[in-house]
Amino acid sequence: MEVIIYPDAREASVAACDRIQALVAAKPDAVLALPTGNTPRAMYAELAKRVAQGELDLGRVQIFMLDEFVGLPHDHEQSYHTFAQREIVGPLNLRPEQVRVLDGTASDLPRMCAAYEEAIAAAGGIDLCVLGIGQDGHIAFNEPSSSLASRTRVKALTPATIKEQARAFGEAQAVPRHVVTMGVATILEAKRIILLAFGRSKALVVAKAVEGPITAFVPASALQMHPAVTAMLDPEASEDLRLQEYYQLIAALTPNET
Ligand code: F6R
Repeated sequence: MEVIIYPDAREASVAACDRIQALVAAKPDAVLALPTGNTPRAMYAELAKRVAQGELDLGRVQIFMLDEFVGLPHDHEQSYHTFAQREIVGPLNLRPEQVRVLDGTASDLPRMCAAYEEAIAAAGGIDLCVLGIGQDGHIAFNEPSSSLASRTRVKALTPATIKEQARAFGEAQAVPRHVVTMGVATILEAKRIILLAFGRSKALVVAKAVEGPITAFVPASALQMHPAVTAMLDPEASEDLRLQEYYQLIAALTPNET
């Protein structure tokens, strides 16, 4: 795994943005899988800035959001439909149909999940998947013990994730118990993956994901099996990495020297 430690979260977000811009320059109709949450906000803001300045045109990309809560109305403040509208569709000047979000209100959730997989395949597969990471090692909402061969499906949230989400929802009682999420295998089929992690609270899980054993107990560790993953970190999130110095050394070399 390529591990890059940036001077701060902002520079990491700009670098992630650079990669998206380079991909779209090479392939204007690129297919992206994107996360919600706090981590990617600066990246979305930077993308929005470039779009507003006319440096970047995302008019042909297709976006698949990673996950959604089950049972929340699409216009609920905390739904990922709302996040996608607020942070992505409007700011990035996209047509709503360019951004697909799993429908947590569908009456037949397994069928809706299968249709999502089919839509990804019909789009030609995911060119670039950007991920955040939960403190328990989840990617998208693949909670600990998720099959590393899992596809898009319904998952129950762990008590720890419900607690984490309770801040946004105001209280734990209000957090839906179930989500729909791309599976680990769905994510691993993306051609390239960027893992973003910022802050001290992510340091331990980043170390487990990057350097620990591959285990369903830390779903993000499955990224070690993918040939093109870049972990883009700030210094705090990299604090528990044993090979921190090595990653910094590699980053300082030119590509020809690595
Ligand atoms: C959300 C998602 C989650 C988050 C993770 C980290 O779409 O995929 O895996 O990336 O829970 O959330 P933040 O960024 O809020 O710390």
